[in-house]
Amino acid sequence: MTANSMDFISRSAEQTRRLGMRLGSLLQPGDVLALSGDLGAGKTTLVQGIAQGWGSTDFVSSPTFVLVNVYRRPDGGLLHHMDAYRVESALEAEDLDLDAMMSTGALIVEWADRISEALPKEILWVNMKWIADEHRSMVFNPVGSRNQQLLAEFKHQTFGG
Ligand SMILES: Nc1ncnc2c1ncn2[C@@H]1O[C@H](COP(=O)(O)OP(=O)(O)OP(=O)(O)O)[C@@H](O)[C@H]1O
Ligand SMILES: [Mg+2]
Repeated sequence: MTANSMDFISRSAEQTRRLGMRLGSLLQPGDVLALSGDLGAGKTTLVQGIAQGWGSTDFVSSPTFVLVNVYRRPDGGLLHHMDAYRVESALEAEDLDLDAMMSTGALIVEWADRISEALPKEILWVNMKWIADEHRSMVFNPVGSRNQQLLAEFKHQTFGG
């Protein structure tokens, strides 16, 4: 954990969605969120909240077979939701044209650790872990000044002060 990271323990799926909503309301085009954590850690549940907070009412599910879902909000903003679980290599990930996704909207990647070499350096990492039935831990780690600023705002909204 670095000085500007953030730890959070969620005690329900609903709480994870609420946390995601706050983060989603702060996301801007070009931002990249990299989610890691095992099956059932709560990555898609967090994205459900993020999409809602970002302003889309589109249905959010794991894009396991299509690899990328796109959620739209009324002003035309795009949120790309990728699941890298079945992506075999960083090379294959490059074929997915991440640059185009980042230039047209924000991007969230589940299983991002599998394709980390294909991702930009400046991203906000979120590592999720199963603790107990309803409990999940999350560690947010920002890389680069934009992501540090994003996390600082998010912390402020979450914990106040
Ligand atoms: N505190 C919590 N936060 C998030 N999810 C929780 C929590 N407590 C229970 N859950 C449940 O755990 C499951 C998490 O599933 P989810 O699809 O979000 O995981 P995932 O990390 O995306 O898994 P996968 O790698 O298979 O896509 C959901 O059924 C959710 O309701
Ligand atoms: Mg998922």
